[in-house]
Amino acid sequence: MLDPALASAVPGGVLVVDFGAQYAQLIARRIRECRVFSAVVPHDVDPAEVARLHPSGLVLSGGPASVYEPGAPALNAALLELGVPVLGICYGLQAMTLALGGEVARTGAGEFGKTPITVTERESLFRELEAETCWMSHRDAVSAAPEGFTVTATSPDAPVAAMEHPGRGMYGVQFHPEVVHTPFGTDLLKAFLFEVCDCTPTWTPVHVIEDQVARIRAQVGDERVICALSGGVDSAVAALLVHKAVGDRLTCIFVDHGMLRHGEGDQVEEAFGEHFHVPLVHVRAQEHFLSHLAGVTEPEEKRKIIGREFIRTFEAESAKLGGVPFLVQGTLYSDVIESGSRDAAKIKSHHNVGGLPEDMSVELVEPLRQLFKDEVRVVGEELGLPERMVWRQPFPGPGLAIRIIGDVTAERLEILRNADFVLQEEIRRAGLYRELWQSFAVLPAVKSVGVQGDERTYAYPVVIRAVTSADAMTAEWARLPYDLLERISNRIINEVPGVNRVVLDITSKPPGTIEWE
Ligand code: XMP
Repeated sequence: MLDPALASAVPGGVLVVDFGAQYAQLIARRIRECRVFSAVVPHDVDPAEVARLHPSGLVLSGGPASVYEPGAPALNAALLELGVPVLGICYGLQAMTLALGGEVARTGAGEFGKTPITVTERESLFRELEAETCWMSHRDAVSAAPEGFTVTATSPDAPVAAMEHPGRGMYGVQFHPEVVHTPFGTDLLKAFLFEVCDCTPTWTPVHVIEDQVARIRAQVGDERVICALSGGVDSAVAALLVHKAVGDRLTCIFVDHGMLRHGEGDQVEEAFGEHFHVPLVHVRAQEHFLSHLAGVTEPEEKRKIIGREFIRTFEAESAKLGGVPFLVQGTLYSDVIESGSRDAAKIKSHHNVGGLPEDMSVELVEPLRQLFKDEVRVVGEELGLPERMVWRQPFPGPGLAIRIIGDVTAERLEILRNADFVLQEEIRRAGLYRELWQSFAVLPAVKSVGVQGDERTYAYPVVIRAVTSADAMTAEWARLPYDLLERISNRIINEVPGVNRVVLDITSKPPGTIEWE
């Protein structure tokens, strides 16, 4: 079963048939960058379901090294018979070749990395392109194109580096147009999208907003909806879309567990309550959470307590509103694809504001299911969400509690909040905020001796943690400039009582995790 949300989004867009996840997602992303909607479907998708979605084109993605590998995903040839233009990429080209009666040879050698390419037929997809080098990653190669196809390019080890049969709307390339190392790759995709598939570049934030608003209205009818706000961009954008669709029938619940950073609660209040006039229940539950955390030092225990109390608080508040049948969640496209396979979840029990009780009898409204994170940000900007919220770095559900090693007390929270505030301010001033995946302060459970104004001090150190990352699965410690580090260190020690030393965490992930707990 395909995601029902595709029914309204796909018509006119392009489906990427997934033979190997990492390639497929990147292709979909590149197509969306050309302002054409694109979504990934599994290789064993029912062709009848694809036909019902009315895509303008299909792309068969790359995949395993060889179509002859045991268990290699098969191409259902019926996908080639839908009368929809098809572009096969790498494995997709080979699978298509075999399905249409061509030949794929096990060359044994293969090509990996930057490879020269020679266009042999200009009157083709290459008409306007300057194609000299491309990025290849293949062992087998098409040795004979299927009948009726023209070979349009070759490379040293791929006699058929590209082929096409415009009459049947079929195209194939051995190289990867979706990676940046194929300089003409995007232009080739554009030629397929706009010249072959006749797509129109209308997948813009405004289009997304209009489309989602209509869908939400159709889903919830005259009913009421609730949404848990976290202060992060996903729940905020999801809430604003729903508010645009159903107005005051949406109530947002913001549980402030007291583990937020400086000013975050106020920002939510200002943006949602005062600016957008969204009915907002602001639950100030700091003391409740602190009392449950008293004396707890074990990281998993902290996470579990916060997750559990968050759900309890949310349930109690939503019960006060009477039976609201719909719940908004900021689920992203990447969550849909990766669901169930998150390594991080095995290492730590994640608490997400989206991860509300499983046994609540509500229907989910998930307006971001088709969007990547960067698209959510663009939609957020378009909706007028404050820049700070749109570009906020990821922040864990349990908040500062898992950045305070040992006991979480009001006093230690205050120290960390103040140190983190200085750090954020300096990182923003240096223009590094958006470049870094995350930058934050950690408060360890040790004290050290220092000297300030001729006086001996015995106080906490603060750890600076800053990382770059693409997806949080791996991360590299960020090389912050020394003068920035010096400013941060001086300011924290001067401005934050209770701190007499600043240290830098230079651990990547793995072996470290991004958070300390
Ligand atoms: P780690 O520390 O496992 O973190 O390397 C990976 C990413 O996940 C974030 N993180 C969380 N996010 N709820 C969340 O919503 C959580 O419980 C949680 N724990 C970690 C972390 O900030 C990093 O971006």
